[in-house]
Amino acid sequence: MTPFDYYPRTRIVFGPGKVAALGELAGELGARRVLVVSDPGIVAAGHTARGIVALERADIDVWLYDGVGENPTTEHVAAGLKIAKRFEPELLVGFGGGSSMDCAKGINFLYTNGGEVRDYWGIGKAARPMLPMIAVPTTAGTGSETQSFALISDAKTHVKMACGDKKASFRVALLDPELTVTQPPRVTALTGIDAVAHALESYVARTRNPASMAFSREAWLLLGGNFAHVITDPSDLDARGGMQLGACFAGLAIENSMLGAAHALANPLTTQFGVAHGQAVGMMLPHVIRFNGQECGQWYFELLECTAGGNGFPTPQSGYRGLADFVGDLASRAGLAGRLRELDVPQGCFDALATDAAKQWTAEFNPRKVGVDDFVALYRAAY
Ligand SMILES: [Fe+2]
Repeated sequence: MTPFDYYPRTRIVFGPGKVAALGELAGELGARRVLVVSDPGIVAAGHTARGIVALERADIDVWLYDGVGENPTTEHVAAGLKIAKRFEPELLVGFGGGSSMDCAKGINFLYTNGGEVRDYWGIGKAARPMLPMIAVPTTAGTGSETQSFALISDAKTHVKMACGDKKASFRVALLDPELTVTQPPRVTALTGIDAVAHALESYVARTRNPASMAFSREAWLLLGGNFAHVITDPSDLDARGGMQLGACFAGLAIENSMLGAAHALANPLTTQFGVAHGQAVGMMLPHVIRFNGQECGQWYFELLECTAGGNGFPTPQSGYRGLADFVGDLASRAGLAGRLRELDVPQGCFDALATDAAKQWTAEFNPRKVGVDDFVALYRAAY
């Protein structure tokens, strides 16, 4: 029996057109002044305006900070903080992909607790209360909307700082699948495969427990069943909704357990070679499943039993190998590279990459013990 402490901190509101409820939801949290944190692409797509209109209709004063970039840095946070200090918001809205949501969390840390981002690197470093926040995700990927962590890079050293605090959890995740339909195909591919990896890695993480596994299973069902659909028919709103909900549940699964070796292998590829997170995770995950499957094949089998008979899902009998092939096939259908050589990552760097991978926090949660030599072997397998 595995003890756990599941405390739901984020209300989840889901449905097409639900962005129109943003004003009402902010009002329920007592806010009259709202800072919306977004990025220029989402603003250009017209999504942010729909949220702002909804807020203004509820007589809420709104200021838009649209300076967030991909992989938010301390500079993006500092620019948002400057605006927050002038505008004095009572609530923050993270409107966009994981970058906008994480940047909103970063601004909130500094606005309410002072100091700089590195002061919050780790867990539970914010001593004072934080402002309430609402997440409006426009991708189906990171699951930041249901996690208490913000990933912010140091603008000078490029070191990614994971800042976690339960107070940094969004009070509401407003999931409107209509906002995800206009994503460019590559964003759909990169964020979708990342979400699949979140479901599969959290399901077998050392810290898994009945609560996290419930979210992992449902996330697997939704993501595994809908990913191929959103690739072939990007306008399929039901499939988009399935992906969005799956990514959200996968976020809850991570929040209640953790990730594993695929994320440990991916991070050095991103920092040292600029490989996009989803590309790196999607490429390494099948190899990690084959590696883990030798020790915990039964766990993957059990997960496949949940989707047995489901259209397109691998059979339980195909086991972890079938699951690994399925993930590799999904990534390839989404147009992602399948081999490290295609990304110009030289074999001579594998030792350095593996040393870095072994230092990643997520490595220690992998179900099978994994050391530097194993990481080298996994990079080789993916070459
Ligand atoms: Fe990820």
